Amino acid sequence: MRYLIEGGRKLSGTVPISGSKNAVLPILAATIITGKKTVLHNCPDISDVRCTVDILKYLGYHVSMDADTITVDTGFDASPRVPSQLMGKLRSSIIFLGAFINRFGSAQISYPGGCELGKRPIDIHLSILSQMGVQIHEDITGINCKAPSLKGGEYRLNFPSVGATENVMIASLIADGPVIIKNPAKEPEIVDLQNFLNKAGACINGAGTDCITVTPTNTFSDCEYSVCSDRIEAATYLSAAAATGSTITLTNAPVSDLGKTVNILEKMGVIVMPHSQTVLTVTAPNHLKPVDMIATMPHPGFPTDAQAILMAALLRAAGTSMIVENIFENRYNHVEELKKMGAQITVSGNTARVYGVKELHGARVRARDLRAGAALVIAALSAEGKTLIDDVYHIERGYENMILKLRSLGAKAEILPSAEQSATLLRHS
Ligand code: EPZ
Repeated sequence: MRYLIEGGRKLSGTVPISGSKNAVLPILAATIITGKKTVLHNCPDISDVRCTVDILKYLGYHVSMDADTITVDTGFDASPRVPSQLMGKLRSSIIFLGAFINRFGSAQISYPGGCELGKRPIDIHLSILSQMGVQIHEDITGINCKAPSLKGGEYRLNFPSVGATENVMIASLIADGPVIIKNPAKEPEIVDLQNFLNKAGACINGAGTDCITVTPTNTFSDCEYSVCSDRIEAATYLSAAAATGSTITLTNAPVSDLGKTVNILEKMGVIVMPHSQTVLTVTAPNHLKPVDMIATMPHPGFPTDAQAILMAALLRAAGTSMIVENIFENRYNHVEELKKMGAQITVSGNTARVYGVKELHGARVRARDLRAGAALVIAALSAEGKTLIDDVYHIERGYENMILKLRSLGAKAEILPSAEQSATLLRHS
């Protein structure tokens, strides 16, 4: 599948933001521990969610999807063995580790493996879980965990890893006493996971702060919960407006989770006008200002997931911007592709310098990871001419109906079959 985008046009109108990929994935995994019926609203229809649903179904649970609502009933016996080819389809399959340990007392997880962003180690996950008493055996097949019991106590992450925080929160619910998690990740998605678990009957406090306290429980109830909206998807459409000098309105947006992104956009000369907690209008000038320094940091710092997205808007700024990527060791996959469109960017180590150019031109480019792909879409919208983006399956992992949403904003964008699909279609036509 490929996207064909003809740029050089302003956007206008209103775009609805979908539920958060990075909130719904750990929440879906956490439904395993309740043994009850969970109804989740505001779920995005994206391939990572469909993969996670397939894994829950493979485990033997009843799952149904209806528009943005997913209903999961985990009140059935299941086996914690998921074939690696199914697990492997989900980049962040490690999100199941804490839930498997909690529900089954054991877990056999294939390594999440390296990905486009780098090695994606899980040492922090395993370090805390082993301190809690999980017996961990690693071999070429993956990670085998046995948790006869988990010890309550105080545990400190040596880095605020989002996934490790989520796994420890979920596993802690079966500990033999209260668990205090120090230096946890503070992302909004951690707060959403806490809110979901508490709605289902848990007693967790402190998510979003430097200390999370988990009171163990194994008594849960049926519950209904609305997942928070996607702050990175919102940042993507804000950046698309910035890159095209447009005025658009976002609805169902997590306005309070956009602070650092809005700060950067305002430095670029963009005006962001919140109307409520979920609606905001962005108005961008025809010429953006450069930004001296954007450094990605753990929340509440500037989010690494928005780095490529904001870089795309800076490509035509009137001057030089500097970006420092402090979270992932390989998160500049978009740079070589953007340069094919006329961007002038140099990368040295984890620092990228973006030299604004007057014009970008369409090209044939390739999405190399989820947010790198989104950056190419934004650049294509502001480039003169047509851009063909290959490997958009990366983008489809995390963006619901992106082309539909862009067309509703007036973009000239369409989905084409991939070269292979085209060849097959031709052969069979
Ligand atoms: C989550 O990944 C998100 N994914 C990522 O979003 C996001 O970029 C990341 O958090 C940071 O905000 C989901 O929530 C599904 P980390 P996660 O553990 O949990 C290192 C997107 O584009 N690390 O906070 O994997 C790690 O290598 C995706 O939506 C260890 O060294 O992120 C990285 O450099 C991409 N050891 C840094 O910490 C560990 O045990 C942050 O990783 C764990 C992580």
